[in-house]
Amino acid sequence: MLRVGVVGCGYWGPNLIRNFTQLPDSEVAACSDLNEGRLDRMRTLYPRVETTRDYTELLARDDIAAIIIATPPQTHFEVATKALEAGKHVFVEKPLATSSRDCELLLGAAKKRGLTLMVGHTFVFTAAVNKIKELIKSGELGEIFYINTTRVNLGIFQESINVVWDLAPHDISIMNYILDSMPEEVCAHGHPYIRQKVEDVAFLNVKYPGNIMAHVHVSWLNPNKIRKTTVVGSKKMLVYDDVSSLEKIRIYDKGVTVQPHYDTFGEFQLSYRFGDIFIPKLDDSEPLKVACQHFIHCIEKDAVPRSSGQHGLDVVRVIEAANESLRNSGVRVPLHSGAAASPQSDSSGRKKK
Ligand SMILES: NC(=O)c1ccc[n+]([C@@H]2O[C@H](COP(=O)([O-])OP(=O)(O)OC[C@H]3O[C@@H](n4cnc5c(N)ncnc54)[C@H](O)[C@@H]3O)[C@@H](O)[C@H]2O)c1
Repeated sequence: MLRVGVVGCGYWGPNLIRNFTQLPDSEVAACSDLNEGRLDRMRTLYPRVETTRDYTELLARDDIAAIIIATPPQTHFEVATKALEAGKHVFVEKPLATSSRDCELLLGAAKKRGLTLMVGHTFVFTAAVNKIKELIKSGELGEIFYINTTRVNLGIFQESINVVWDLAPHDISIMNYILDSMPEEVCAHGHPYIRQKVEDVAFLNVKYPGNIMAHVHVSWLNPNKIRKTTVVGSKKMLVYDDVSSLEKIRIYDKGVTVQPHYDTFGEFQLSYRFGDIFIPKLDDSEPLKVACQHFIHCIEKDAVPRSSGQHGLDVVRVIEAANESLRNSGVRVPLHSGAAASPQSDSSGRKKK
């Protein structure tokens, strides 16, 4: 039985408390939030879970083996560092931290003490994303040409991080996972339409090895909630719609073939294939529940999590590079040798005063 303490009981933290409470191999011993109103709410929902405004009380308890962090991103580094230093395994919500340097320090702290560090990149625990990974790996889609993703809705406007830090970690995490690689470079454009300095709309162009292009549109300023990813391969194409409850993935047996023989340029021929559309049946387990189970499993078996600290660091490196590009009129930022934040910007992507 893994006893955990949860820090942060705002919008997302209660989902983690619910899952660790419901799983047979874990229980929530205590939770913490700075806001007494949120703690009141937790006491109503979970009368047996102790509450405190001071999260360091959870770190001092011997009966708590792991700390679950669902506080705002700019606090992750401090809370996770203290938790690791106190000898606790850590599950930290995405992004792992707000700079790659901080992520590296967290990885080092976990490694030094032999502790599990896992990042809440929930999408790598969805049946849909794992199906896409399987389809790519098996070669069913053929050679991957490009990926287009849209993650937009109205709000929720964040105060301390821009939309790239808030939403794009999901897309980068998904793409790094399904392609099993790290981008080579990124360019980004964005604009703060509603509030000064905090971009609410952004477009990222991300280049993966093998000439795989990816485009990511993230926005808090859109009339509809859209969570759509299109993967175009040489043999087949697919559309993943995370908002759809029953038909999350549609695999299109569509494609274009260049005829191998033609006599003159005028006879250059393409043949188009319009085949069947296949909708695979997917497991409908709650991804967060799968992630929480996986965290418990990794601690028990001393296994590397699917969304490991390294995965979290890779995502942050791309987000950091995207913010550097955004601050410099969309310049290409290579990722080969690490993408340090530009001198003009701090690690959260906001301009230094
Ligand atoms: N995996 C996902 O799909 C997903 C979805 C939403 C949010 N998130 C992540 O979850 C985290 C929290 O997001 P949210 O939307 O719940 O934010 P939120 O602002 O609603 O909640 C954060 C809570 O943390 C509390 N807090 C801040 N500092 C604290 C401290 N030192 N000690 C104790 N409590 C503290 C705040 O009082 C607040 O109640 C973020 O990292 C976010 O990126 C992940």
